[in-house]
Amino acid sequence: MRALAHNYLFIFGLSLLVLFSIYVFNRSVKDNRINLLTTSFKSTDQNFSVNSYGKPKKVLQVASPFREPVTNRSYVILIWISEKELVATFRSALKLDNFYMKGQFKNCNFNNCIITENISRIHVSDALLIPYPELQTLPKITQRPIGQIWVFWAKDGPFNPRQHLEWKSKRIISFFNWTVTYRKQSDIVYQGYGYAKKKANLNGPPRQNEINFAIRKTRLVVWLVSNCQTKSRREKYVELLQKYLPVDIVGKCNYSNTHISECSTNFGPKCFNWISKQYKFLLSFETKICKQYITDMFFYALKQNIVPVLMSGKPELFELPPKSFINIRDYQTPAKLARYLLLLDKNDYLYNQYFKWIDYYNIIGPTIQEHNYMCELCKRLNRQNIFRKMYFDLKRWWESNSCENPWW
Ligand SMILES: *[C@@H]1O[C@H](CO)[C@@H](O)[C@H](O)[C@H]1NC(C)=O
Ligand SMILES: *[C@@H]1O[C@H](CO)[C@@H](O)[C@H](O)[C@H]1NC(C)=O
Ligand SMILES: *[C@@H]1O[C@H](CO)[C@@H](O)[C@H](O)[C@H]1NC(C)=O
Ligand SMILES: *[C@@H]1O[C@H](CO)[C@@H](O)[C@H](O)[C@H]1NC(C)=O
Ligand SMILES: *[C@@H]1O[C@H](CO)[C@@H](O)[C@H](O)[C@H]1NC(C)=O
Repeated sequence: MRALAHNYLFIFGLSLLVLFSIYVFNRSVKDNRINLLTTSFKSTDQNFSVNSYGKPKKVLQVASPFREPVTNRSYVILIWISEKELVATFRSALKLDNFYMKGQFKNCNFNNCIITENISRIHVSDALLIPYPELQTLPKITQRPIGQIWVFWAKDGPFNPRQHLEWKSKRIISFFNWTVTYRKQSDIVYQGYGYAKKKANLNGPPRQNEINFAIRKTRLVVWLVSNCQTKSRREKYVELLQKYLPVDIVGKCNYSNTHISECSTNFGPKCFNWISKQYKFLLSFETKICKQYITDMFFYALKQNIVPVLMSGKPELFELPPKSFINIRDYQTPAKLARYLLLLDKNDYLYNQYFKWIDYYNIIGPTIQEHNYMCELCKRLNRQNIFRKMYFDLKRWWESNSCENPWW
């Protein structure tokens, strides 16, 4: 009797042990799988880069296989604009009509791409080009066809989070592949606002020493403006500045009555040509104070030999010619800035220091360069094995620590 009970106990213990081992084994397999998932994005494949911004602790999604380049196929790029009212806005921002008129990808090295604006074609599109505000109405990640490339596109700076609480509350983890923005850290850098390029050939004596750029300039500061109420509250800054020196305001905001016929219809080359002969300084005040966000006004000024006074985000990261502009960030108050401008007004030698850079840099643009990024996009679609990348949290990459509130 006792021996039998012993046997039962033994068998019971044994089965417990077996069950426990199965449990442990299963667990370790599961853990392994999680590990595989998290590590499959890094190491081994050097071509696949992961933007670590907002990287979740556990990867939620298995990497979908990328598409091998197939010769003789074409790639469909869908402009993702979900709401009918917004179509016109983005079409003009993207300069699509221009792009169609010039024969689309005709002049690109890779011309086997096609653009569609029909969002019902999402399931047959190789890439989505998604304008910034459309982050809110993304297709669901689960609906994304395998291998579809998501491209983020932004020409203007991020929203000011304080003024867009509704937007701020949206958390969007988005598995984007590439970005097209004015920021230098983007995959494709948008350069339509213009940029400075170092001259290749620096031989020969500097020539700018001989020119007095102040000569015949009788007026001091001009501001060309057509957007009257802005997030940067630049209009307030100008108001403060005007207490200390005259600022001629040109444009449709009716801040003053300065009328320059050359600038009455738009701020084109004729307008810049005229003001550059009259004025020493041009206010290049952005509508948002966001890092690296510097638009065409600045580059027009550099090109036309007029010193821009810049209001923008922190400039550490961008390549601008040294001593080519005056940064309002260097002056504690509008009064101090005004004092400095008045000093330069009285001293041609000091004013001319702001033109030494001309010997070393060329200003490219501002021009309509929409073609460049579209061509680059088409090239990347053909070469996906080289340009593999994903962003875990694009909204954070784009918005966090990007913009500042005005401090005046
Ligand atoms: C690729 O396209 C060209 C022009 O359309 C054609 O002549 C050629 O036969 C195609 N090659 C293949 C492998 O399909
Ligand atoms: C958009 O695409 C869908 C599906 O391919 C098609 O049925 C529809 O006719 C297209 N609409 C336009 C305006 O081309
Ligand atoms: C600006 O002034 C002009 C002429 O004085 C006037 O016709 C126009 O309505 C004004 N615009 C605004 C936005 O006040
Ligand atoms: C990585 O990119 C190189 C070209 O830079 C290419 O030759 C190679 O095939 C790519 N590797 C993979 C695994 O796609
Ligand atoms: C695009 O991103 C997805 C994740 O969202 C990834 O699975 C895919 O491999 C990426 N493709 C390329 C070409 O980088």
